[in-house]
Amino acid sequence: MKIYRTQAALAQGLAESRGSLGFVPTMGALHDGHLSLVRRAQEENDAVAVSIFVNPLQFGAREDLSKYPRTEEADLEKLEGLSVDHVFVGEVGDLYPEGFCTAVVIQGEVTQVLEGERRPGHFDGVCTVVAKLFHLFQPDRAYFGWKDFQQVCVLRRMVQDLGFPVELHACPIEREADGLAMSSRNRFLSGADRGLAARIHEALSQARKSVRHGQADVARLCASVKERLAGDFEVEYVEVRDELDFGRVESLDSHPGRARMLLVAKIGGVRLLDNLLLNPR
Ligand code: PAF
Repeated sequence: MKIYRTQAALAQGLAESRGSLGFVPTMGALHDGHLSLVRRAQEENDAVAVSIFVNPLQFGAREDLSKYPRTEEADLEKLEGLSVDHVFVGEVGDLYPEGFCTAVVIQGEVTQVLEGERRPGHFDGVCTVVAKLFHLFQPDRAYFGWKDFQQVCVLRRMVQDLGFPVELHACPIEREADGLAMSSRNRFLSGADRGLAARIHEALSQARKSVRHGQADVARLCASVKERLAGDFEVEYVEVRDELDFGRVESLDSHPGRARMLLVAKIGGVRLLDNLLLNPR
């Protein structure tokens, strides 16, 4: 496994790489969700590259960048265990040298609502760094988790609008044994809150069960998930969106196999995101 710490070293290393390249961008604090993206990339490409970079541009003024978990040694060990070919550990000064003042801004509803509304500037930061990383790595395929549903939709828009020659793959959410979606934020949950957090997936699964039993009223489905979580969580939103075009779903019948229920529920100050396809084919 080759490790690079500058863009120049990375470019040199990648120039020697042969065949198709799969790319998994991360901010480190790797868990099995990230590793499943790496495995998928390995199945579909000749070589795999992973980036580890805690991107300051995607943190808002009220979000604590310094608290983001940094676990480089453990991350590199995990990637070594999977025999990843190339790992880029980015440095702020190298990726954003003095004078850097460019941003990739995707306009439209996809960046304005839900996470975009609650975290102003977040998607500008994500798009700017991912565009930069795509230029650097020039991958054939890039892998992201459905866990960050809106991020997938935003990046798909960027790839399409700017014509990046990369296939973007969205991969299934990896879950703990009790259903909690894997996330670097889970480590911030206290013991009791960690136990309760499993109820998020239970509530989403219950909504999917109701759909299977014929419930098609989207507003009622969202209301019942909110009710289930209300006592223990501060629910920020529950919505159903089309996983292809991010359109708001009013009727499940018009979005066969594509209606995802997404939510954010906060407990003990930790914002937990999750989503589930309500009407899988
Ligand atoms: O999903 C993430 O970890 C980040 O948003 C990404 C895509 C690596 C960009 O910093």
